Amino acid sequence: MGEPPPWLWDLPLINLYNSDVAGFMYDVPFVATPEVVVRRMLQLARVQKGEVLYDLGSGDGRIVIMAAKEFGARAFGVEIRKDLYEQSMARIKDLGLAHTATIINASFYDVPLTEADVVTMYLLTSVNERLRPKLEKELRPATRVVTHDFEVPGWRPVVVEEIYEDWRSHKLFLYKIPGREVPVPGKSIQLEDRWLRQVAELVDGVRSVEEIAGKLGVTIRKVREALEELRKLGVVDDVRIIK
Ligand SMILES: C[S@@+](CC[C@H](N)C(=O)[O-])C[C@H]1O[C@@H](n2cnc3c(N)ncnc32)[C@H](O)[C@@H]1O
Repeated sequence: MGEPPPWLWDLPLINLYNSDVAGFMYDVPFVATPEVVVRRMLQLARVQKGEVLYDLGSGDGRIVIMAAKEFGARAFGVEIRKDLYEQSMARIKDLGLAHTATIINASFYDVPLTEADVVTMYLLTSVNERLRPKLEKELRPATRVVTHDFEVPGWRPVVVEEIYEDWRSHKLFLYKIPGREVPVPGKSIQLEDRWLRQVAELVDGVRSVEEIAGKLGVTIRKVREALEELRKLGVVDDVRIIK
């Protein structure tokens, strides 16, 4: 049998694959988180300006959009359905957020999450369980994970909160990836840059990136970027991850 004729793909049955009716064909159907709950998820995660957020299974893009618009995050959504991907990208462009928000049309199992500071998920417990080894492998210590209604089996939440919206209650779980990223001092040189000098002075081989960020009142991401500069200059030897 040869290739199917092109018109076959236009038949409604075939197009079900990318429609809402076919939600059951994916891991999780599309159900949107109400806006008030989205805002609370982002507040719980303490999303800071410039931080990188991933929403796994981003639906109509509402978490990504609010994270970029109201919290100043660099927000990414991963959505397997092409129609939802197109719809959410169109909305991002209409809102003028394309420089800080984007949707990746892929399966979340295939997208690297190493850059994330915050991950949000409104999936199912079974899917969270399947994603767990990937999250544990790729997410760096101190990354925050917020899930709506469904737990990550085997993880201990830092906060569990119930919030009411209209007639429905929503459960939120906040997790923090355990472990420490500890920068190891290298050679000592005179640094012109005041900001780099401030970071370098706190690198003692014991303090973690999170502690340095706390002392300086900046995001962990900002410290990581400074450490990368310092590593290029040889002032920092290595950043050890102690799990
Ligand atoms: C319950 S909805 C959540 C939508 C959005 N995050 C929110 O909270 O409003 C789950 C979404 O995950 C998407 N999805 C399911 N399996 C997926 C996969 N393997 N990779 C990426 N997206 C997936 C579905 O198409 C759906 O849009």
